[in-house]
Order: sequence, then structure tokens, then C-alpha cells
Amino acid sequence: MYSGLVHAHSGLRWIFLVVILLTLVLALTKWLGKKPFWEEHKKWALITLIIAHIQLILGLVLYFISPKVIFEGAAMKDSVARFFLVEHISMMILGIILITIGYMRAKRQLPENSAKTITIFYGIGLIVILYMIPWPGSIYGVVSWF
Ligand code: HEM
Repeated sequence: MYSGLVHAHSGLRWIFLVVILLTLVLALTKWLGKKPFWEEHKKWALITLIIAHIQLILGLVLYFISPKVIFEGAAMKDSVARFFLVEHISMMILGIILITIGYMRAKRQLPENSAKTITIFYGIGLIVILYMIPWPGSIYGVVSWF
């Protein structure tokens, strides 16, 4: 079960990245063209939100079963253990909160403002998430591409 969850969490990263990038390109194009985003493209913002929340659920389960998450004070002194205990979870939750706020605000706004809101909130959320992905070859030990 553990191995399956790690691969699901790792693989879903790619689907998430492709869908959020597509949403951002659509939103930025509409913002620059001074056109509303919501009516035509809200499904992409929603799909991004749903995938981010699935990642959150998978991540929360992994957090309590992964051998990389060590619940000891000493973990704070080791950069890899600290990353999985505190940094990855807190920054990923921050990124997902930004995406959620962006979606909720855009939904309530006038359609002509939605492109700007999605670009800003999803854009900052993506930067935070990209920064906190443990990429293979980084200091975070054995992590996979998929
Ligand atoms: C969009 C959000 C997220 C992305 C893109 C993401 C991506 C990743 C990736 C690529 C790995 C490496 C998997 C591997 O070992 O090959 C990983 C590991 C992990 N993530 Fe996330 N993550 C996200 C959110 C979260 C959240 C919110 C949590 C906790 C609530 C979390 C908990 C974990 C844990 C515990 C591991 C270590 C799993 C292991 O290898 O034992 N992740 N994440």
C-alpha cells in the first residue's frame, strides 16, 4: 500500500503540473486580452483545484505511514528529515490554500476580474509548490520521477 501511494502521489504531480500550467496560460491570455476567463474556462480551474486536493489527501496519508517522516525532535537537525516532517507539508498546504482562495474569489467575482485572480493566486501557488517538490538528484534522498 505504501509503495502504491508514493507512486500515486509522485505521478499525480505531473498531471497537476500540466493542468495548472494550462489553466495559467488560459487565464493570463484572457487577462492580457481583457476578456473574462470564468464562463469559458472555469472547468480547468476546477480540475486543478480537485487534483491539488487529491494530492493533499494522498500526502496526509503518506505523512503518517512514510518512513521519511520521523516524529522526533532530532529530525529538526537533519535537513532531509526536517524537509519531510515540516517543510514539504507546510509549504504544500500553503500552495493549495492559495489555489483554493483563488478559485473561491474568482467564483464570486464579476467574470471580467476572474482572469487576473486566477493568474495571481494559481501563479503564486504554483511557484510555492514547484519550489517544494523533492526532485530526483536533489538532497532529498531516494525519490522517483513517477
Ligand atoms: C501539489 C502538492 C504536492 C506535490 C506536487 C507533492 C509532490 C511530492 C513528490 C514528488 C514526492 C516524492 C515522492 C517519492 O518519494 O518519489 C512527495 C513526497 C511526499 N509528500 Fe508530497 N506533494 C504535494 C503535497 C503534499 C502534502 C500536502 C503532503 C502532506 C500533507 C505531502 C506529503 C508527502 C510525504 C509524506 C512524502 C514522502 C513520501 C515517501 O517517499 O515516503 N505532500 N511529494
